[in-house]
Amino acid sequence: MRMYDIIMKKRNGGELSKEELRFFIEKYTAGEIPDYQVSALMMAIYFQKMTEAETYELTMAMAESGETLDLSDIRGIKVDKHSTGGVGDKTSLALTPMVAACGLPVAKMSGRGLGHTGGTIDKLESFPGFTTSLTVEQFHENVNRIGIAIMGQTADLAPADKKLYALRDVTATVDNLSLIASSIMSKKLASGADAIVLDVKTGSGAFMKKEEDAFALAEAMVKIGKSAGRRMSALVTDMDQPLGNAVGNSLEVIEAIETLQGKGPKDFTELVLSLGSEMLMAGGRADSISSARQQLEEAVQSGAALRKLAEFVEAQGGDPRAVYDLSLLPKASRITEIPAPKSGYVSRIICDEIGSCCLMLGGGRETKESTIDLSVGFVIHKKIGDYVKEGESLATMYSNEETKAEASMERFLKAYTISEEKPLPAKLIKGRID
Ligand code: URA
Repeated sequence: MRMYDIIMKKRNGGELSKEELRFFIEKYTAGEIPDYQVSALMMAIYFQKMTEAETYELTMAMAESGETLDLSDIRGIKVDKHSTGGVGDKTSLALTPMVAACGLPVAKMSGRGLGHTGGTIDKLESFPGFTTSLTVEQFHENVNRIGIAIMGQTADLAPADKKLYALRDVTATVDNLSLIASSIMSKKLASGADAIVLDVKTGSGAFMKKEEDAFALAEAMVKIGKSAGRRMSALVTDMDQPLGNAVGNSLEVIEAIETLQGKGPKDFTELVLSLGSEMLMAGGRADSISSARQQLEEAVQSGAALRKLAEFVEAQGGDPRAVYDLSLLPKASRITEIPAPKSGYVSRIICDEIGSCCLMLGGGRETKESTIDLSVGFVIHKKIGDYVKEGESLATMYSNEETKAEASMERFLKAYTISEEKPLPAKLIKGRID
């Protein structure tokens, strides 16, 4: 078999066989096929697309390109959750202790921020001392002992995706449905969960800007997971404005803690309860959405969910006192209000711009090597549909450097549109696929 023939077949619109896809993934992972040939194949896939069968075979080849985790010594059905990424998306921080407090084991792999989007691991590192660098043994031990552990992606997990993703990032071949679906699902399948709940974001802060593309991606990922023998469901949810109010690592941790105290923003609380219900159902802990919601609400009201967060933080080297004393979390030195330039209704927020404003403050990585400032970001007071008076605060900005703050505020204001007409309310959950 020759890589040249595989490229030509796809370029001419042919369907690649399982053997051809396995050949390409195995040889590329082993460093035996050069990047320029794989770039050509990625571009051919981008234009010619892939069939369902090809997408599935590519996913499986990538999932099996490295280590696959065996979670069978962890008791119960293991349910993972994955978000395609967004702005202010701190869902895992509140969701995982909540479902763990309901008795569902959480053995989760998470990532760091990517582009304008934040990442769970960065956020969790706001707890002084917290680490996600666990050995596989510690990971299993923590899940069995306290019901929850989150670790970072190991280098050996789906290494083909790691190489391919980096290549796609620089060859304008990221936004292809089959390539995104296989990239995400290969990592999820390799992480060994029995059931996977997907939160597929759509809107200006998401990868999939158009709703129909988000539904197609959700359907493709659910099909792949089911074909691989996993229990699957997906919610397609709004990312046309930041989720909740907080954007920025430690600010999002604070909002997640407030949500576990029953004082979270309405949209964020609703999303956490909806995804949590999906997880409890998939894990056999509830037989209806309403009983799942009740369990989750009880875990919050009784304080069990918050206690579970403290236990989890402590088990991974963090200071659990920070769960109850927010002054122990990283704090910015400058607090500035962002005044509305005129009166009216907030009719649009360019969501990825808000993520980029946080990045400009130092809250995200400009390069792979950047260190991030966990304390900076925004707490948004006015979201789509809200009325604001001229001079009233749209958001509070938390920063540490004046020049960065000035540039970020200017950009933040440009992301907002204020109109005379009240816009229609945005729908948070746009659909469910199973
Ligand atoms: N996230 C991934 O892990 N892969 C993609 O291709 C896109 C988003």
